[in-house]
Amino acid sequence: MPAASQFELRRKLLQLEALYDVGRALNTLRPEDDLLEELMHRAVAVLDATLGFVFSVDEKLNIQTHFTFGIDNAPPEQLLVEPPIKQVMASREPMMVSVSKFLGGAGSDLLIAPMIAGDAILGIIGVGGKEVRGASTKGAFAEEDLRFLESIASIGGAAIDNTRRFHKLDLVRETLEDENRALKQRMLREYSDRLMVGDSPKMQRVIDLVARVADSQASVIIRGESGTGKEMVARLIHGNSPRKDGPFVAINCAALPETLLESELFGIERGVATGVEARPGKFELAKGGTIFLDEIGDIPLTLQAKLLRVLQEREIEKLGGRRRIPVDVRILSATHRNLEEMIEKGEFRQDLYYRLKVVEIVLPPLRERKDDIPKLVRFFLDKYGKREGLKDVRITQEALQKLMRYPFPGNVRELENLVEGALALTTDPVIDPGDLLMPESASGTGERELSGDLPTLADLEGRYIARVLAFTKGNMSKAAKILGVDRKTLYRKRDDLSQLAPSAESWDIH
Ligand SMILES: Nc1ncnc2c1ncn2[C@@H]1O[C@H](COP(=O)(O)OP(=O)(O)OP(=O)(O)O)[C@@H](O)[C@H]1O
Ligand SMILES: [Mg+2]
Repeated sequence: MPAASQFELRRKLLQLEALYDVGRALNTLRPEDDLLEELMHRAVAVLDATLGFVFSVDEKLNIQTHFTFGIDNAPPEQLLVEPPIKQVMASREPMMVSVSKFLGGAGSDLLIAPMIAGDAILGIIGVGGKEVRGASTKGAFAEEDLRFLESIASIGGAAIDNTRRFHKLDLVRETLEDENRALKQRMLREYSDRLMVGDSPKMQRVIDLVARVADSQASVIIRGESGTGKEMVARLIHGNSPRKDGPFVAINCAALPETLLESELFGIERGVATGVEARPGKFELAKGGTIFLDEIGDIPLTLQAKLLRVLQEREIEKLGGRRRIPVDVRILSATHRNLEEMIEKGEFRQDLYYRLKVVEIVLPPLRERKDDIPKLVRFFLDKYGKREGLKDVRITQEALQKLMRYPFPGNVRELENLVEGALALTTDPVIDPGDLLMPESASGTGERELSGDLPTLADLEGRYIARVLAFTKGNMSKAAKILGVDRKTLYRKRDDLSQLAPSAESWDIH
């Protein structure tokens, strides 16, 4: 075979390989500028060119991205006004041409090809100044060179088109996701309206936060005084999360002694002791759903360490077990205690605190959002009115005023109990001040009882407890409910009360 044709053959092979490479390289989705730069460098290298340029245009034919090689300081706008480029833009046909001046520099022979997708022109690629290499090229481009550039340009056009379409789809996806999120939040707000009252700005902020965290898997700690609605918020988060069809498992960490709490949380393996049956723990029971660790501030230090390990390793080990069981739960927790102070005193582990507190929701006490009271009252009147079979229950303006003046140390639960109690007391469906059983001093109508008598807070608390106990005829559960404290607390307080007996008795009961 003559040397020249062998040379040609080698060159063709090289071009084919280059095309194959380009095709493969552009097959993946890449940013447009990356793509253009690679195209140009490949064309320059394969065609032995000394200069190269490439640019893409938007729908209005303005240059979007451009690259040049071997051309100094060519402003991109100038590319568009170069006569041969203009011509290719207009004709959309590849072109081989020799010019005496190109982009303000010396003359050159040029190959220019359009990048097209469908019937849109997406850009131009060009090379120029063939290097003198091998006898047959004589420093000029051949027809095959133009065909090669044309092929590269068509691959480039398709790749740009893909990238742009993908980008557009991506934008659409993002918009849809945003819309979806907004819709979910609106739904939550409407849904929460039926379950939960909270028009005050403070509660609106809480509801917004709930809507935002519900969707994620983040651990949330809910804080607030007793009776502010912590458990309610936990249920709301679960009910609006992707895990809503899974279980919601609540455990009150304050209600159980340490060993029991441990087996409740993590479960027991069979054969731990004779007669002990295997039992799943709450973590297992909550699989695919949410676990709500209520009163987390009351969990003993040794258990805190174990809980931390579970949260870190996402695995549990049952009591007396060897097996490690993977945990698939979202963790919500709540406390009314000051964890920061507990950490200072060494009563709560800081590392556990940070694990639980990825997001923190703080529920404001009712006295800081009194504007919610009328709607809450309405909400509970409807709820308990229905239960008592009462129709059109109302509250008088005076009774509402009395509630507005009261500081509600027991927060929403106390208000709920007051309304419930009033509905039980009233003989007609109208609640008036007399139906509301609350410490009169605090409600502002008890001046009479307080004048000439300035009891201490403890004294006053004692009197009130005595009064509620009288109302419930000594029923501790009912009294605890009205007072918004748990029974354990009430027993303790009653015992303290016996020391205050004289003043407690002086509280007259209507
Ligand atoms: N914003 C609200 N709208 C309607 N009901 C509410 C609201 N907040 C609380 N409640 C009601 O008040 C009661 C107490 O709420 P919840 O049990 O969630 O409080 P908590 O903060 O967990 O109290 P504790 O600290 O004593 O456990 C529940 O019956 C709940 O339904
Ligand atoms: Mg609670």
